Amino acid sequence: MVSRGQLSQLAKESNLAGSYLSSGSIMCVVGARPNFMKIAPLMAALNDPKSPVPATLVHTGQHYDDAMKDAFFNQLGIPEPQVDLEVGSGSHAVQTAEIMRRFEPLLDQARPRAVLVVGDVNSTIACALVAAKKGVPVIHVEAGLRSFDRGMPEEINRVLTDQLSELLFTTEATALDNLRREGIDENRVHFVGNLMIDTLLHNKAKAVPMATTMRAHVNAEASSLCDSGYNVLTMHRPSNVDDTAMLRHLMHVVERISEHLPVVFPVHPRSRQALQNAGLWDGLRSHDRIFPVPPLGYLEMLGLMMEATMVLTDSGGMQEETTALGVPCITLRENTERPITVEQGTNTVVGRDATRIMAAVEDVLSTGGKRGQRPELWDGKAALRIRDCLAQCYADAGRSVLAR
Ligand code: UD1
Repeated sequence: MVSRGQLSQLAKESNLAGSYLSSGSIMCVVGARPNFMKIAPLMAALNDPKSPVPATLVHTGQHYDDAMKDAFFNQLGIPEPQVDLEVGSGSHAVQTAEIMRRFEPLLDQARPRAVLVVGDVNSTIACALVAAKKGVPVIHVEAGLRSFDRGMPEEINRVLTDQLSELLFTTEATALDNLRREGIDENRVHFVGNLMIDTLLHNKAKAVPMATTMRAHVNAEASSLCDSGYNVLTMHRPSNVDDTAMLRHLMHVVERISEHLPVVFPVHPRSRQALQNAGLWDGLRSHDRIFPVPPLGYLEMLGLMMEATMVLTDSGGMQEETTALGVPCITLRENTERPITVEQGTNTVVGRDATRIMAAVEDVLSTGGKRGQRPELWDGKAALRIRDCLAQCYADAGRSVLAR
């Protein structure tokens, strides 16, 4: 992999960067943890020797820790990115601006045929904006999802990225309604299914058992306690963890839940910082029924979800993964941008009210909760559909948005 510093040196010396990233290819961008499981099957499909669509990979460096990045690249077999922009953390403005500043010269050097972005993180909008202003077509995977909550940074990223995109790939049918309402030409929208579920289905057999994870990160007693059922908790949305009063309230509810069933809590770095700031971290670490563990690799997290009684989360991706697995999910948010997980899947959106959360938990404990069904085209073949659609666009140069 070429770092940003090395890249500009190489570019100065021999204009190598352009050829290294092969001009005319599709430049795929990842930045943060939820992007990695979406890009993995797509890179595999596009890098297949028979694929007519060459692709390169750029990592912005938004997520950089081993646990937030390398574990995913290694476990999912994502090829080493050709370039890492090493942008790191910062406020939204600083992080977004820094990605844009570092991405622009790369785009000038590499001259890709299109830039493909996934999901709704800051790296997604930052690279889409640079590409669109340069006249490079933007392809958005996971387009059209809407929470209708502009207080969520991801919602702003979703709306703007879709407006900038020439080609939009969706995971569920309601996305097209949202895009139409925002004036986007439906000929540019393709319902292809869900890349995140491609990854899940391809990796289910390799999932790490709960007991292995618990023994590695807690101890054998915790593992045995969880043998007769446990909850998985993840929580990292700014609206849940950055406000100390809300964080205290939610942790109090989690404590009540743990009286019924133990709770395994993989803690995102942002949440760990917030728990430490609120003075809650030490109490959590010594709790005998709540087990905080570090952020887990993909296969550990998959195994933990597969064996869980229920999942409590504010993550977007886990609402989809639990639906695909048939595991009840209680979403600790006021809304979801993934309504199909509620309508057809196992998801119940309860908000942050203690009574509503406890009622949903008790429902799962007494009835087993929603089982649901796997939504249309969540069948492990989304990457192949995207590849076929891109190949068609390449072939049909007269009509294609990718013709350059
Ligand atoms: C980002 C996404 C969010 C996604 C989440 C998954 C945006 C706006 N948000 O939120 O949609 O659900 O990723 O994790 O893009 N940090 C580390 N190590 C890392 C990365 C981050 O310790 O490798 C810490 C830093 O203190 C950083 C904080 O986590 O300031 C937040 O990281 P950031 O990328 O800003 O946002 P996330 O909360 O991870």
